[in-house]
Amino acid sequence: MKHPQDRITSLLVVEDNPGDARLLREVFNEDGARSTVMALVGSMEAAEKHLAAHNVDIILLDLGLPDAHGLEAVRRAHAAAPAMPIVVLSGLDDERVAVEALQDGAQDYLIKGQIDSRSLLRALRYAIERKRLEEVARALGAKVEAAQDRSRNLQNELIQMSRLSAMGAMASTLSHELNQPLMALVNYLRGSIRLLEDPNPDALDQVRAALQEGEKNALRAGEIIRRARQMVIKGHPKQETAELAGLVQDALELAIVNYREELVLDIHYSPGIQVLVDSVQIQQVVLNLVRNAVEAMAGCAERTLSIRTELLGDMTEVSIADRGPGLSPEVRQQLFTPFVTSKREGMGVGLSISRTIVEAHHGRIIAEDRPGGGTIMRFTLPVNIRTLGDAQNDAGKLVDLC
Ligand SMILES: Nc1ncnc2c1ncn2[C@@H]1O[C@H](COP(=O)(O)OP(=O)(O)OP(=O)(O)O)[C@@H](O)[C@H]1O
Ligand SMILES: [Mg+2]
Repeated sequence: MKHPQDRITSLLVVEDNPGDARLLREVFNEDGARSTVMALVGSMEAAEKHLAAHNVDIILLDLGLPDAHGLEAVRRAHAAAPAMPIVVLSGLDDERVAVEALQDGAQDYLIKGQIDSRSLLRALRYAIERKRLEEVARALGAKVEAAQDRSRNLQNELIQMSRLSAMGAMASTLSHELNQPLMALVNYLRGSIRLLEDPNPDALDQVRAALQEGEKNALRAGEIIRRARQMVIKGHPKQETAELAGLVQDALELAIVNYREELVLDIHYSPGIQVLVDSVQIQQVVLNLVRNAVEAMAGCAERTLSIRTELLGDMTEVSIADRGPGLSPEVRQQLFTPFVTSKREGMGVGLSISRTIVEAHHGRIIAEDRPGGGTIMRFTLPVNIRTLGDAQNDAGKLVDLC
């Protein structure tokens, strides 16, 4: 592409009026631009053919051609040579169309009858320069978009990897928890078989009771697998409407699968709150925060885990509070910085990934000291607007799952 001070070496004039074309040629030659090759065609079809076979620096385009009129002429010329600058030639009476042509890909316009050689050359050179800058801006825009795409993909990969790593750390706990209901199921089945070998009038009732217990255990094992599975399935991030309480409860059950007996749970879900989120990612946040809370309370006498969901205007807040030792001053300063950990086996990525996820959902995450000891982690999410009214009506009716 040329700079304004460069000479214009080839020009395509699309003009069906021989008088106007002659005038243009004269004006052009006055400035000593004889080295410029000026091709003249009288129709859009001929212009398209010329552009398919030749490279030109710029197109001078009349808007009243026999086969293309007004903006249509501009669009066709632009489609035939998208990278080529176009200067529109218009009469005084269609100046408005010429102005519109600037939005459709033309760089400038000249009014016939008011063209002198200096203004013509200047207009052409600046049109070339403007087009060059437009192309540079477009290429830069495409590069920025590609970089943003790459960064989004990397971020998703990172979120996914951290989820897999958290589940990996829980693998032995999970397999132990899975073993329990399966062993119980085996025992109930064995008991039932024994009872059926020596049937007596009471046996059927006992078998029924044993099978019912067995069924409960099989369902429990299935639930553990379902929750774990949804956390490790690789999928594209997606937005879906989800009921917040169910989503938090599912992640909580998975996070405390091996600590149920040791913990006192204090849970209040404000009912009816719907959020538009990537459910697996939000569960990942809850899983990270609950695991941190449970790990912080290891060895503490009081192990109360408090979880709340609340409606705050058009946002909802989830808070997870523990009675652990609280945040140490060193960790507090870099709480959301990746790879900062005080744990022997910790990676130090749980909170930084949680912040990435929450902020990508237009929410915020903060840490606070809990009055009486411990830590409260709070994060917010926008409420799904369509369901906001229902949730507000339901607010105040708290569901207590203790
Ligand atoms: N509820 C909490 N109470 C006290 N300290 C906490 C709490 N939550 C986080 N921390 C501190 O913040 C640090 C960073 O937490 P983060 O979840 O990012 O990493 P991690 O738990 O160490 O490792 P992982 O990557 O496995 O989650 C923890 O090591 C811990 O020192
Ligand atoms: Mg953690």
